[in-house]
Amino acid sequence: SQTLKLAVIRGDGIGPEVVDEALKVLHAVADGELDVQETPFSLGAERFLATGDILTEDDMAALAAHDAILLGAVGGDPRDPRLAGGIIERGLLLKLRFAFDHYVNLRPTKVHAAVGSPLADPGEVDFVVVREGTEGPYVGNGGAIRVDTPHEIATEVSLNTAHGVERVVRYAFDLAMRRPRKHLTLVHKSNVLVHAGSLWQRTVAAVGAEYPDVTVDYQHVDAVTIHMVREPSRFDVIVTDNLFGDIITDLAGAISGGIGLAASGNLNPDATFPSMFEPVHGSAPDIAGQQLADPTAAVLSVALLLDHVGRADLAAAVTRAVEADLADRSTTRRSTAQIGDAIAGAAAAARTTTA
Ligand code: NAD
Ligand code: IPM
Ligand code: MN
Repeated sequence: SQTLKLAVIRGDGIGPEVVDEALKVLHAVADGELDVQETPFSLGAERFLATGDILTEDDMAALAAHDAILLGAVGGDPRDPRLAGGIIERGLLLKLRFAFDHYVNLRPTKVHAAVGSPLADPGEVDFVVVREGTEGPYVGNGGAIRVDTPHEIATEVSLNTAHGVERVVRYAFDLAMRRPRKHLTLVHKSNVLVHAGSLWQRTVAAVGAEYPDVTVDYQHVDAVTIHMVREPSRFDVIVTDNLFGDIITDLAGAISGGIGLAASGNLNPDATFPSMFEPVHGSAPDIAGQQLADPTAAVLSVALLLDHVGRADLAAAVTRAVEADLADRSTTRRSTAQIGDAIAGAAAAARTTTA
């Protein structure tokens, strides 16, 4: 059977709890179909505090030798001053996204009939945010002078390149072409951020000319938060920059019934480097270590991973298992592991039915 060399970064907080369940489901569905060879990487706050290392050149080289990376979440105790300023998040997560050229951050949202959305009547919601992953205000292009004086000046300059915008926009059009509604929404703030906004708008217009079957519209990011709550069914594919994409995908998770359901893939579509799959949520220190986390987002990230490595059949089995489990959620609270067990059982069954 096909081999999958999988690097696993369980990470901090609820990361290990949700990754353990995601791997349980992966093994249930892979059994006899896919030879999963896991390499654990103990990266995150704990290792940093013990050794001072976040991500070494050796770690990078070892990770690069894998077909894909599964990550839980990173970010330690927010009260620990040694971890201030997102040192782990930037030094690990963002470093990997940049170094492995994860220029597409794919974040799908579906509202499942049986899951309680906080919206009274969300309708048929099925959209994908294509968030740019390597540029924007995330690049660390800025600085501060006269720090801690009344005259302090701090800047974070958003980087947008023609190459960087074009490749992610092209990916979004290709994705829209594969979906029934073939609709693309560009989200930006072109009424204020005119330089970057203009580049994004011109790029969408130019690339869009090659995709006459895709309908296109534009929304300012502030208005999108209104539409996502009032009428989320209007969206199909959304393409947007790194920071806007970060913000609207937490909102998307919330309207779909909780951030514990929101999956993501950091893709290097050229396959020069391994892609990395992770829930949209973070390490949730407020609930860590108590088996309170919903592992569904991590499980659905495994489905995105399987799809990416060419096993759409196994990805579909995982998705069906999650859907069955969501339809079955009663009011009794289940532990992280109980949810994982239920989905793994359903995934094994779903696979058998397909085979
Ligand atoms: P968070 O996503 O960790 O938590 C926000 C809220 O959602 C919390 O109330 C949390 O309990 C809840 N939540 C998150 N995941 C859940 C799950 N699976 N099931 C149930 N509830 C869940 O965001 P935050 O509190 O802003 O950040 C905490 C830490 O995680 C910070 O250090 C942050 O930088 C980091 N972070 C890491 C990643 C990542 O590694 N990919 C992503 C986001 C945040
Ligand atoms: C996410 C997270 C990260 C981001 C942080 C932890 C760097 O919020 O994956 O959504 O902003 O991209
Ligand atoms: Mn985020």
